[in-house]
Amino acid sequence: MDAKVLNSALEWVERQTHLCTKQARMLSNGDQGCLLQAFSLMVKPLHILELGAFTGYSTICLSRGLQEGGSIDTIEVYDELEDIIRGGFRRAGLIDVAGREDIAHLHIGDAKKIIPTLDKIYDIVYIDANKREYKEYYDLVFDKIRPGGYILADNVLWSGKVLLDNPPKDAQTQSIIAFNKMVAADPRVENTILPIRDGINVIYKL
Ligand SMILES: C[S@@+](CC[C@H](N)C(=O)[O-])C[C@H]1O[C@@H](n2cnc3c(N)ncnc32)[C@H](O)[C@@H]1O
Repeated sequence: MDAKVLNSALEWVERQTHLCTKQARMLSNGDQGCLLQAFSLMVKPLHILELGAFTGYSTICLSRGLQEGGSIDTIEVYDELEDIIRGGFRRAGLIDVAGREDIAHLHIGDAKKIIPTLDKIYDIVYIDANKREYKEYYDLVFDKIRPGGYILADNVLWSGKVLLDNPPKDAQTQSIIAFNKMVAADPRVENTILPIRDGINVIYKL
């Protein structure tokens, strides 16, 4: 994908996100966006799945290293975001490109219901939706990832709360702690947590 076209689309998405939404802090911009782009360029994926598009910023970053003929499926439950998401995809050349099938496929709805309907095998799955549901997402996507493929799970340090001796008892903190423990104990994968922004668990399927 053309870096200049993607960067100009990312600028547009970032601006629209600040203008039109109240939770711009959810954007995977800055260092994290650069990491997603670099990771995609290293893996050169054919198919990517993203859970939690928000305004599509990370979708565009992840698309950077897609192979010719590749695609990215992204799932977002909040349908009011659709116009910004599609506007960014058009600017990035991921949809509505003459003579070419769409590269990005937006699915509006609950990831838990949509994942079982997808029939591709993915090289990268980016988990960034409801923090209380990471374990369920992991189980649902696992068999849809090729051996040698990756899961990237965002926010696994949860502002450092998961590292406290007495972590808060709220559902999100507890779910992320349980998710990190489950991944670390899963013999089917190797993983490492990168302390970039809110922490990204890089999980390699053996
Ligand atoms: C942290 S934001 C995603 C940020 C985005 N990946 C980015 O980097 O710009 C999480 C998103 O997940 C969505 N979400 C939450 N639960 C979901 C679910 N069960 N299925 C699909 N999307 C969900 C939220 O509406 C929100 O837009």
